[in-house]
Amino acid sequence: MTIRTSVAGNLPAPLTSFVGRRHELAEIGRLLAVRRLLTLTGVGGVGKTRLAIQAAAAARPANPDGVWLVDLAPVRDPAAVVTTVAGLLQLPDLDAGPALGSLVDRLSGRRALILLDNCEHLTAACAELAKTLLSACPQLRLLVTSRQMLGLTGEQVFAVPSLSVPDEALQLLRERATAVRPDFRLTEAACAPATRLCAALDGLPLAIELAASRLRTLTVEQAADRLDDPFTLLTGGCTTASPRQRSLRGMVDWSYELCTPAEQRLWRRLSVFRGGFDLDAAEEVCSGHGIADHEVLDLVDRLISKSVVLVHDHDGMPRYRLLRTFLEYGRCRLRSSGEERHVLRRHHDFHLGLAERLASRCHLPGRREAPGRLRADADPDPDGATRRTAPATDGNPLSRRETEVAALVAQGMTNRQIASTLGVSPRTADRHIENILVKLVVGRRAQIAAWWSEHGTPTAPMPAP
Ligand SMILES: Nc1ncnc2c1ncn2[C@@H]1O[C@H](COP(=O)(O)OP(=O)(O)O)[C@@H](O)[C@H]1O
Ligand SMILES: [Mg+2]
Repeated sequence: MTIRTSVAGNLPAPLTSFVGRRHELAEIGRLLAVRRLLTLTGVGGVGKTRLAIQAAAAARPANPDGVWLVDLAPVRDPAAVVTTVAGLLQLPDLDAGPALGSLVDRLSGRRALILLDNCEHLTAACAELAKTLLSACPQLRLLVTSRQMLGLTGEQVFAVPSLSVPDEALQLLRERATAVRPDFRLTEAACAPATRLCAALDGLPLAIELAASRLRTLTVEQAADRLDDPFTLLTGGCTTASPRQRSLRGMVDWSYELCTPAEQRLWRRLSVFRGGFDLDAAEEVCSGHGIADHEVLDLVDRLISKSVVLVHDHDGMPRYRLLRTFLEYGRCRLRSSGEERHVLRRHHDFHLGLAERLASRCHLPGRREAPGRLRADADPDPDGATRRTAPATDGNPLSRRETEVAALVAQGMTNRQIASTLGVSPRTADRHIENILVKLVVGRRAQIAAWWSEHGTPTAPMPAP
């Protein structure tokens, strides 16, 4: 990015359109008026930098002495943080100590805003700088973007959410697709696959932009169907983007590198939870071989703070998940670590145990009470590496997964809805249905539903009523 330096600052003029974010901009504007250190956190590619630049531009009137952007992504040496900021303000080329003094001299008494962008790999150095500057320069404000907060007293954190799906996400997809293919139209027929594509990409702007660049050669439907391997689909992108952002893999690699070996180990193992997980599931499935039981909580917490794991409320209890891209990445790493079969087996055993405990508690007529945690979890093993067929004793010819799919068919779900409920690809759902038809020797979905109502087992996860 070329930096223009002037008295009023150096914010770059954006090269592409800005989409949505009305509420976020309003909230950031409000927070900047009352706080002097505001950190935008969130996963890589969620739009922190873009939002921060937009917010900083809107804050120009309140900061007449200047608004500066300092991109720390290329900076490797923590000692270079101070000199990078000083250089941007056109201060003489000094070592860190004197440069800090000159910075304080230059900024004290100024109503200015500095945007420290991409700080995740330099949080300690940025925290140190922020502390010194904010205490010496009472009118200065700092807006920070980082996958992880700086951890300073008085720091206000704003967690940047994904784009809303479908509204903002579809708008971004449409605008970026039109840029590479001017005749691109999001027809009514393409809206459903486009929404599916954006939802599968978790509304992540970086992923949506990369997917849009594929629409030069693929239809929306084809792109959505290729999401089994998001990293192959989402390579390329615009050449002005930093290498880290040119591919989704580059972005996730960077997050992975910022984790400690223990955090990386847990990330890999958590990738078996396609439908999310709660703490006791993580403890039971992911501990051992380098992670003690009692360490899981702390490691999950650290992965949340690094924006790798997301937390949300589920019936009043915290539930966690990895974004799709982080999950696929972890799974790939798990495979090459040689631990995949072992972790899948533990995942399988954990859920089988849970299902059996529930079954013994709620007998057949009570099967609708199977709790959300069981139905919220999804395919641990899409390749069938460890799948067992359901016990023959109940005369069920279907595997556990197929039994689950039959239950969802009986609820009237389409294949697409089944795929999204179970967190598997539409192709996998189609394959399950075909297998069920063959195994039950029937020809229609209605017959699967009829079979389920007669033979369904209490261990199959039930969708929400
Ligand atoms: N609201 C938005 N409107 C348009 N493009 C966006 C928006 N948010 C993010 N983007 C684009 O998505 C990509 C990733 O966003 P970026 O701000 O760099 O993410 P982060 O800083 O969180 O890693 C960039 O190319 C950016 O321009
Ligand atoms: Mg950024």
